[in-house]
Amino acid sequence: MEYKELATAARGSMGPWCKACPVCDGRACGSHMPGPGSKGAGTVAARNYAAWQEVRVRMDTIHEAYEADTSVELFGRRLSVPVMVGPLGDVKLHYGDKWEMEDYNSCILHAAAKAGSLAWTGDGMVAAIHESAVHDIGELGGCGIPTIKPWNLETVMRKLELALAARPVAVAMDIDAAGLPFLKGFQPPAGPKSVPELRRVADACHTHGTPFVLKGIMGVRAARKAAEAGADAIVVSNHGGRVQDGVPATAEVLPAIAREVGDGLKILVDGGIRSGLDVFRALALGANACLVCRPFAVVTYGAGAEGVSDYFAQLARELKDTMEMCGARTVADIDADVLA
Ligand SMILES: Cc1cc2nc3c(=O)[nH]c(=O)nc-3n(C[C@H](O)[C@H](O)[C@H](O)COP(=O)(O)O)c2cc1C
Repeated sequence: MEYKELATAARGSMGPWCKACPVCDGRACGSHMPGPGSKGAGTVAARNYAAWQEVRVRMDTIHEAYEADTSVELFGRRLSVPVMVGPLGDVKLHYGDKWEMEDYNSCILHAAAKAGSLAWTGDGMVAAIHESAVHDIGELGGCGIPTIKPWNLETVMRKLELALAARPVAVAMDIDAAGLPFLKGFQPPAGPKSVPELRRVADACHTHGTPFVLKGIMGVRAARKAAEAGADAIVVSNHGGRVQDGVPATAEVLPAIAREVGDGLKILVDGGIRSGLDVFRALALGANACLVCRPFAVVTYGAGAEGVSDYFAQLARELKDTMEMCGARTVADIDADVLA
């Protein structure tokens, strides 16, 4: 099924906030939190989506016929497509009773691996969610990326130890998560981390040969500090607008960040990426790969694992089509030159 049909199928089983729109553009969910909306005025998710639509690509169909290769190398693995399922915490609270968090993570991990890619898992307020996610990742031979919140360092190190034992492809921290309204005053506390603190986390990952990713980087200054802390990759992300209002779209800040640290770090990006064309745009602006979060929740509510694989197939099809229309044979050919 196409995304629009999967969204239609999801509509009956959604909670009150997600409208399972034909295009997940952040407008209908607005500022609803709980729910998949954004903080404050609730406009940042919509801004993310809209910014990609302003990026124009340059057609070039004067080349020999070929089948574009959408695969990409990341963290020592070859992904069939430069898209991964983004981490999502507390799916039941935000999207409705149909899915328990543990089952949702298990579903996206297995379905993404089957599609030749990876899913990232969110770190909930309940310890069992992270434990169950890393158990599934271990069973999948490390195919998945657990994301740990910036709790106090003692909690981070405990959760990290558990994650590293599963030998995941990488471990991430959503360094921006302290801005989440429901983490305010929570025990253990979550908050900013200094470069030396993050270096301890990165060092522990590297001891196991596991890359460390910092998710939630929105400027050159923070990107430089991520590099200094020993991160191997960053996700240019504003958490879909859920942690701070009034911030730019990720597409707006991506090129400068990629120019500054792209030689040393892998650059990932998320926020409003909804089609294979959007993936192409993100790569052209300097990303190595993308994360897509909210739409994967919608397709999982619509059709479970089948929904996830159908949406992966659609993104791959659209990316391949755009690559062939713009003269890119491989993902490495997608650079600033393919922009109009
Ligand atoms: C309901 C909901 C829960 C989320 N939970 C997490 C989380 O636990 N950890 C995390 O790193 N990001 C979390 N995110 C942020 C997403 O991973 C992603 O950065 C953001 O939604 C932007 O991508 P999108 O526009 O494709 O949804 C969450 C987003 C939503 C909508």
